[in-house]
Amino acid sequence: MPVSLVTGGAGFMGAHLVKELLAMGHTVVALDDLSGGFQDQVDPRATFVHGSINDHALVDRLFEEHRFTYVYHLAAYAAEGLSHFIRRFNYQNNLIGSINLINASVRHEVKCFVFTSSIAVYGALKPPMREDMVPVPEDPYGVAKLAVEMDLRAARHMFGLNYVVFRPHNVYGEYQNIGDRYRNVIGIFMNQLMQGQPMSVFGDGEQQRAFTYIGDIAPIMPGRQDAIRPTARSST
Ligand SMILES: NC(=O)c1ccc[n+]([C@@H]2O[C@H](COP(=O)([O-])OP(=O)(O)OC[C@H]3O[C@@H](n4cnc5c(N)ncnc54)[C@H](O)[C@@H]3O)[C@@H](O)[C@H]2O)c1
Repeated sequence: MPVSLVTGGAGFMGAHLVKELLAMGHTVVALDDLSGGFQDQVDPRATFVHGSINDHALVDRLFEEHRFTYVYHLAAYAAEGLSHFIRRFNYQNNLIGSINLINASVRHEVKCFVFTSSIAVYGALKPPMREDMVPVPEDPYGVAKLAVEMDLRAARHMFGLNYVVFRPHNVYGEYQNIGDRYRNVIGIFMNQLMQGQPMSVFGDGEQQRAFTYIGDIAPIMPGRQDAIRPTARSST
């Protein structure tokens, strides 16, 4: 049976993905530093490891110990607007941390590295976003995501690393972190509504964004083509 590593496995999307993988019979290791996730969201059938993707000795030890078949890399601090003001942290956590995982995946010949990039790679381009658009990120969060995508391409070219990139579009649903005022507009709106505050609207409020329900994409992320329902729209 496959052994899968889910980084960010205690986070919103990661907790759903862990359940999907367990349902498919995978042995799952969830690595999370709990900077934004919650351990009680991790399905107890998975092995939870409290630690950081920045700790490359830990990452190497986990790969050595578990011989992962698949790596699902979701760990990140996803605060796009804030990333201008936490540049070093953003690149250390979201880019260098990712490289630790890519290096280990190359060394241990994982079957596939699945990376959650972001709609942020498109910057100010107008929706609907298409994969044939040339990405032009406009903030450090998007730049880091695109850099990881490009590093994956180089790793495939040089070392044959197989990979898949998802570019989710404003995901919402159960387990969403609504306590962080910098993360994800739906969570920010929900938090404001629950406190009886008005929702913050920037500009004229006519901006358009694409939104995705977690239940529509979590079943697709493991690579289950049978999970694609006719009405579900995958974000790639
Ligand atoms: N939710 C969205 O709308 C959305 C959209 C596009 C892309 N993404 C990407 O999908 C991934 C998951 O997003 P999410 O919404 O579930 O966010 P989340 O914050 O709920 O989950 C991220 C998890 O990563 C963990 N983490 C952060 N830094 C870590 C580190 N150095 N080591 C180990 N764990 C670490 C956090 O504790 C958290 O549990 C992220 O990479 C994010 O950039 C999310």
